[in-house]
Amino acid sequence: MSRVWTWMRSLTGQWIMLMLLALLVSQMVFYFIYRAEQARAVLELRRDEVVARAVSVASLVETVQPELYPEILRATNTGVVRFWLEGDDLSEETESWQQKAREQLLKSSRPPAASELVTDSKARWQTMTVENGVVVRMLNLKEWNGFGLVIPVNERLWLHTVYAKPQSVARPPWSYYLSLGITALLLTLVSVLVARRVGRPLQKLTASAESLGRGEEVEPLPEVGADDLRRTAAAFNRMQLRLRRFVEDRTRMMAAISHDLRTPITSMRLRAEFLEDAETREKFIASLDEMKAMTESTLAFARDESATESTRMVDLNALIESLCEDLGAMGWEVSFTPGPERVPWRCRPNALRRALRNVIENAVRYGGRAMVSLEMQIDGLDIVVEDEGPGISAEDRERVFDPFVRLEESRNRHTGGVGLGLSIARSILRSHGGDVRLDEGASGLRVCLHLPGVES
Ligand SMILES: Nc1ncnc2c1ncn2[C@@H]1O[C@H](COP(=O)(O)OP(=O)(O)OP(=O)(O)O)[C@@H](O)[C@H]1O
Ligand SMILES: [Mg+2]
Repeated sequence: MSRVWTWMRSLTGQWIMLMLLALLVSQMVFYFIYRAEQARAVLELRRDEVVARAVSVASLVETVQPELYPEILRATNTGVVRFWLEGDDLSEETESWQQKAREQLLKSSRPPAASELVTDSKARWQTMTVENGVVVRMLNLKEWNGFGLVIPVNERLWLHTVYAKPQSVARPPWSYYLSLGITALLLTLVSVLVARRVGRPLQKLTASAESLGRGEEVEPLPEVGADDLRRTAAAFNRMQLRLRRFVEDRTRMMAAISHDLRTPITSMRLRAEFLEDAETREKFIASLDEMKAMTESTLAFARDESATESTRMVDLNALIESLCEDLGAMGWEVSFTPGPERVPWRCRPNALRRALRNVIENAVRYGGRAMVSLEMQIDGLDIVVEDEGPGISAEDRERVFDPFVRLEESRNRHTGGVGLGLSIARSILRSHGGDVRLDEGASGLRVCLHLPGVES
């Protein structure tokens, strides 16, 4: 059911449905026009025939004895045409004439339903002259899909005729349904082709935009096809180029600033040695060392950023496991609970390692130990790092991602960081289309490194 729904919402589905709807509406309009036209044509044909018959019946009646009248009338009456004789033309009284005509019709061998013979008070008699100069009076009975006729036989006798065939519209022939079916089929085929021509490039665009969001290198889209599609592809390619340049320029500027700050810091450091007051000198040098560390870290980060690593398929279980083993070998207390068997994921493995390392380092540094695990989510996966430390209060959880922000306690403990670890981790995860989130864990801080899944 949901697959049908998805298909109906797709470009191809919508296109086909709209085409078929258009076909249906046009055919319905055609059919109504066809029906009305056909009914009119049949009636006209019938009228000429019945008039001719009535005229001959009238002339026959004129030539025979009155005893034979009933015989003649019985022989000429059919299911839909009834003849009867009156000593009056009755034609001024259209409603009572219709009443009589109805009675006659109901007497026929195949009478129409009485309910279909509704009296038409607006019907008017028309006079017309047919072959041999016979003057015929005719009453159009639209509702009955028929008409009435009055023909004088002689001065004292009139022949009355009624023809009625309500609801007598013929169904369209089977060839009509066949042609309708073939048209629908052709339209569906054309729709599929057109939708494919439009849909394929759109799918490519979606896939490229998704990959770009995950930080993968994306081939420029082919700028082919209809004008609108070509323009969209060109716009996407330009956007991709500008984005990449923008990021590169920012990184380059960050690297230049940190690099250029090193010289004045070093010269200030040299001059500081000459300060006389020992306490001031110590503080000054400590501050300068801190500045130096900050610029060095920034520079290192900028260098890493600009060294473009390409995305690869790696098994995240293996990647995390090896990192944890390496850190464990350095004496850090790190444990890892792997996820399902293999977790192949497209990412920049070195960058991801660095991000995870920063978070594990924090857990060990501020929370005693790091417990790493891998959790599959509907929209991707989380690499979770928990510790047993004091955690971070809710109001500080966003702030700690800002560069050089270190919370008071850690500053006091003189742990040596500069406050870039989390901002680097977040920058790396965001360039993968994911993010880093901080939460309260069971016994300390819970850090989630979220990686988005690949849209199928
Ligand atoms: N697991 C944690 N438990 C408690 N506090 C933490 C934890 N992780 C980070 N913090 C706090 O957030 C601050 C910012 O962390 P971040 O990793 O960005 O910098 P840093 O660890 O101080 O320095 P760097 O990582 O650059 O060496 C830390 O100084 C610390 O106060
Ligand atoms: Mg850190």
